[in-house]
Amino acid sequence: MNIDVNQAGCLPTVGSMQGGFASFLTLSRIHKERDTTLFIDPGFPVHMQQHKVLNIKYESFDVYNFRGEKLREKLESYFSKGHIHSVLYSNPPNNPSWICFTEKELQIIGELANKYDVVIMEDLAYFGMDFRKDFSKPGQPPFQYSVANYTDNYILFISSSKAFSYAGERIGMMVISDALFNRRYPDLRRYYNNDLFGHTMVFGTLYPLSSGTSHSAQYALAAMLAAANSGSFNFVEEVKVYGKKKLQ
Ligand SMILES: Cc1ncc(COP(=O)(O)O)c(C=O)c1O
Repeated sequence: MNIDVNQAGCLPTVGSMQGGFASFLTLSRIHKERDTTLFIDPGFPVHMQQHKVLNIKYESFDVYNFRGEKLREKLESYFSKGHIHSVLYSNPPNNPSWICFTEKELQIIGELANKYDVVIMEDLAYFGMDFRKDFSKPGQPPFQYSVANYTDNYILFISSSKAFSYAGERIGMMVISDALFNRRYPDLRRYYNNDLFGHTMVFGTLYPLSSGTSHSAQYALAAMLAAANSGSFNFVEEVKVYGKKKLQ
């Protein structure tokens, strides 16, 4: 992806689903005066269900009518009210229109995350699967577009379910930027005995949820990542069938 993250912030989770659950839970507690997540739709409906069961407020808008520069004004209309702690979207998306954010739009999201100190959660369930570009060669351009190029205030959810067709084993990755991992939020002490975000996520939230995820699936995913990185496995070629299905 052309970004660097310390290995401490690269966390295996029980599917990216658990990464989302743990992040929503933790992010809703970082600022005592902010209580709402903003979804940029179309998103993944289960994320809303996760908010409901956690009793966390969320608001949402459909990006369809707010493309390009219009996105800036729309996001500022929420952020300027001061109640949003984080933003979530899926990109590449999980919707019939297959609308992907442009780099300019990701830049707008990143700039506003910096300006309003909002954490951006990027759901990369369909990593590399915008087939208009070839993202199959790790470490070489073109890179999967990401808000991580424009802000240090991010969490990425990377699923193995689609890119590696590995849904049943329930293994995914949560990637927390170094800046966010090392950030202290004194308000976290209301729920945790530490205020360091990364420490809180690992020992305060993920540990009580499931104490990690299956070791054997971690080895399998590590092997698939190694094969993709060495060039012996073209993961994009294997999943092009998704693109064909969308066209039918
Ligand atoms: C857009 C989107 N996000 C997240 C997920 C969850 O992925 P995982 O199987 O890694 O929990 C899915 C799975 O269907 C999805 O479609």
